[in-house]
Amino acid sequence: MQLTNTPRTHLKPKPDENKLGFGTIFTDHMFNMDYHPEKGWHNPRIEPYAPFVLEPSTMIFHYGQGIFEGLKAYRTPAGKIQLFRPRDNFKRLNYSARKLCIPEIDEAFALKALKELLRIEKDWIPGADGTSLYIRPTIVATDPYLGVRAAHTYRFFIILSPVGAYYPEGFNPVKILVTREHVRAVRGGIGDTKTMGNYAASLLAGEKAHRAGYTQVLWLDGVEQKYVEEVGSMNILFIINGELVTPELNGSILPGITRDSVLMLARRWGMRVSERRVGIDEVFQAHEAGTLSEIFGSGTAAVISPVGELRLEERLIRIGQGQVGPVAKRLFNTIMDIQYGRAEDPMGWIEPVQ
Ligand code: COI
Repeated sequence: MQLTNTPRTHLKPKPDENKLGFGTIFTDHMFNMDYHPEKGWHNPRIEPYAPFVLEPSTMIFHYGQGIFEGLKAYRTPAGKIQLFRPRDNFKRLNYSARKLCIPEIDEAFALKALKELLRIEKDWIPGADGTSLYIRPTIVATDPYLGVRAAHTYRFFIILSPVGAYYPEGFNPVKILVTREHVRAVRGGIGDTKTMGNYAASLLAGEKAHRAGYTQVLWLDGVEQKYVEEVGSMNILFIINGELVTPELNGSILPGITRDSVLMLARRWGMRVSERRVGIDEVFQAHEAGTLSEIFGSGTAAVISPVGELRLEERLIRIGQGQVGPVAKRLFNTIMDIQYGRAEDPMGWIEPVQ
């Protein structure tokens, strides 16, 4: 497939790198590619970032048949540009595609197109501490049709956004509310895919948590409401009796790439690591017994995010006294150092762009 390139004539001003939030600013160009049953994926192109013109009947608006990914490009101290485990993101995109009846993409071609887009947009990759260029590959159903079925046509696009920290708290501990009123996903559903509906399902509980002074919601399993699942924007990990414990991938939890990196690093460091069912009662009991020493989340956007407070109804865990625990800190530093090219990459996670 031949990738075409239409450059923008007037470039936008670049933002102040020291004031970046998350996901509000977009670069000059984007990648687009279309799917048609007779042509397959075709017409891959890099063109100016621009609005889409879509009919109001377009299927993505009605039935949510869409998927996405989140990854980042980093600027190293030597000025090189690199990605962190991008092949895993495209692999997961195809996993989501299969579950949402979307035609799979050629992962190697998608990576090649992304690298080309990044080379064009390299001046948008910020260099200030903790900043990066967030990458959002997305596929949406584009048939103008109101019947419920898998679409026949799709658009695959990639947009880029220079970002700072995902949470306003930065690397400071966040407060998390456990909900029993709502569920995010159930066994046999699509909780393990990155599809829009999972995020839509999280909004009401998220709003309630915000009103109560919490940053995020911790979801319990959708059947018994007994077992910890994830935080929606991140996976969740605990240090109990010195062991790194996290919910096993059960089909309703997103298989996070940062989660996987954390587990691989911890095993490499000789820590005891356990992926298993984690009861929410077990977490509170461990806290009461004094064996719970850290709680933190992991995600592309959030990296490692320490949790300072966890509430379930009347039960409350306050942990770390506003400080970041030693395991979260070591993971955060190690992962960031690899991502930013400040340290060796013993795991082969880095993909150079330029
Ligand atoms: C990511 O971590 O990249 C995500 O897609 C989560 C999203 C809530 C920002």
